[in-house]
Amino acid sequence: MSKESIIDDSRPNAGRMYDYYLGGNHNFEVDRQAADQVIKLLPFAPKGARLQRWALQDIAKELIERRSYDVIIDFASGLPTNDHFHELVPEGTTVIYSDYDPVVVEYARDILGDTPNVYFFEADAAQPEALLERPEVQELLGGRRKVGFVMWGVSAFLTDEVIAHTAKYTYEWAAPGSCLVFNAQGADLPKNETLDRTFQIYEQMGAKFHKRALGHFHELLQPWKVDQDFITLLEWHGFDESDLNKEDLEAIGPLAGGYGAYFVK
Ligand SMILES: C[S@@+](CC[C@H](N)C(=O)[O-])C[C@H]1O[C@@H](n2cnc3c(N)ncnc32)[C@H](O)[C@@H]1O
Repeated sequence: MSKESIIDDSRPNAGRMYDYYLGGNHNFEVDRQAADQVIKLLPFAPKGARLQRWALQDIAKELIERRSYDVIIDFASGLPTNDHFHELVPEGTTVIYSDYDPVVVEYARDILGDTPNVYFFEADAAQPEALLERPEVQELLGGRRKVGFVMWGVSAFLTDEVIAHTAKYTYEWAAPGSCLVFNAQGADLPKNETLDRTFQIYEQMGAKFHKRALGHFHELLQPWKVDQDFITLLEWHGFDESDLNKEDLEAIGPLAGGYGAYFVK
């Protein structure tokens, strides 16, 4: 996604289109028109977005309750509406959200108000150092480096170089015992004309959609070690199929939700 297109309300923006899929109201007419074009091609897009949010809630529980992290650092967070993970975090857990879209950041701060222990910073996932070295972030962390990192719903928009750099930097920065939860999108996709037309809509707005082999993500994410390998959202713990029809079920999985995995240091 080109940064120039973000605050320009005369052109659609992928982040704001995502908010529209989620039923949010932080989007412009131009975003809704582009999103409606996508929905015409891929009618499950809104359900896919909601599923991604559901997965984030499950991830929050896993990171906090089972893995006992008291810091979660999330890249490319999108809007922290009610279904994002801070709703579930107990007192004493610090959540650091980030997004490179200044409009998202502004709306996000509005939504969060003075929610304790939850923060939102403008930061590009391509430069994790800029977020992690920020004086405010360092103050919040107070020296804590055993953290749960999350990169969810964004990998299709990132180049190989960016994913590899972010993985390497976060790994070196983190204390042993840290974790990276990663969503692989655009992986092992079937050849499909409708999909190609959808990607064109995004590409016209400067958001190149990267397709990759699932195995390639393992290389890009080194030196993080696989803890729970990639599975589709259909196989995800606690996944509830009840409001999905047959077409949704075929589409969810590799296509809509992509794959998720836990990596550790
Ligand atoms: C599809 S939303 C995903 C939001 C959330 N992580 C989720 O899974 O529901 C993508 C978000 O990533 C942001 N984004 C895209 N590229 C980014 C980058 N290089 N750095 C930070 N944020 C980015 C967009 O602004 C948008 O808000």
